[in-house]
Amino acid sequence: MIVYRTKTDLSGQLLSLKNEGKTIGLVPTMGALHDGHASLVEKATAENDIVVASIFVNPTQFNDPSDLDKYPRTLDRDLELLRRLKADFAFVPSVKEMYPRPDERTFDLGGLDRVMEGLHRKGHFNGVAQIVSKLFLLIRPHRAYFGQKDFQQLVIIRRLVDILKLDICIVPCPIIRESDGLALSSRNVRLSKEERKLAPFIYETLLQARSKMADLTPAQVKEWVTFQFEGQPAFQLEYIEIVEDKWLKPVDDWGEEVNKVACIAVHLGDVRLIDNLNFD
Ligand code: PAJ
Repeated sequence: MIVYRTKTDLSGQLLSLKNEGKTIGLVPTMGALHDGHASLVEKATAENDIVVASIFVNPTQFNDPSDLDKYPRTLDRDLELLRRLKADFAFVPSVKEMYPRPDERTFDLGGLDRVMEGLHRKGHFNGVAQIVSKLFLLIRPHRAYFGQKDFQQLVIIRRLVDILKLDICIVPCPIIRESDGLALSSRNVRLSKEERKLAPFIYETLLQARSKMADLTPAQVKEWVTFQFEGQPAFQLEYIEIVEDKWLKPVDDWGEEVNKVACIAVHLGDVRLIDNLNFD
């Protein structure tokens, strides 16, 4: 695996590979890699000739500077994992390399950035759009891999590809979970032992909520979830929404012919966790 730190070195190398007819798969990450990230890289290596994994903690998507400071950085271990997974290139740019000057672009995300995560993390998705568009325009991959764990991000990236009129296939990848159901996340290491034991309650509640679809309306299912979390003082529920998967509009009736996804954000101690589950 070759590690690139500059845009020119990486794009030069990719250009000659593309001229040879090789397909390129991109896996964008912020590092602190775990099995969730690994599953994206594995899918990318199975489907492309060349795989680029980027590691870049993108400052413009953090609205809280202390969250940016606290973000785990484990570069040596990450590179070791990418080597084992047989990624071809790791792209590890500096902040200066990606933002030689402030990025003042604002993306019209059609309201997708004004619900759920967008309401609670102002400017977050514009920052994601900034960095992902830079990576897309630089690397111009045939395929790019995103986890369903960040479901709203995935929907927004699809919109970004439309806005930029790019010919990139966005490949969704299933959520990887611990054996007790907790979705893998770089934030899980910040849970105390006690909190870690409680955390699977999030996924369990989503599963139980889905099993109530036959008896309750979407609004009642949301109320039921809210009630469950009220009985758990360690948790603070931020939102529970049941939305369709194109424009993230709330589902009012199970009869609507749309793909339905229940999305949740909770605080457990000082760790904010998100999860989601298909309700079809
Ligand atoms: P990061 O949080 O590092 O996640 C990188 C990719 O891994 C995302 O597509 C995310 O959805 C996926 N992922 C994380 N946990 C997962 C899990 N348990 N199962 C499956 N996939 C999982 O998301 C970002 O970085 C950034 O916003 C980024 C897109 C890189 C832009 O900076």
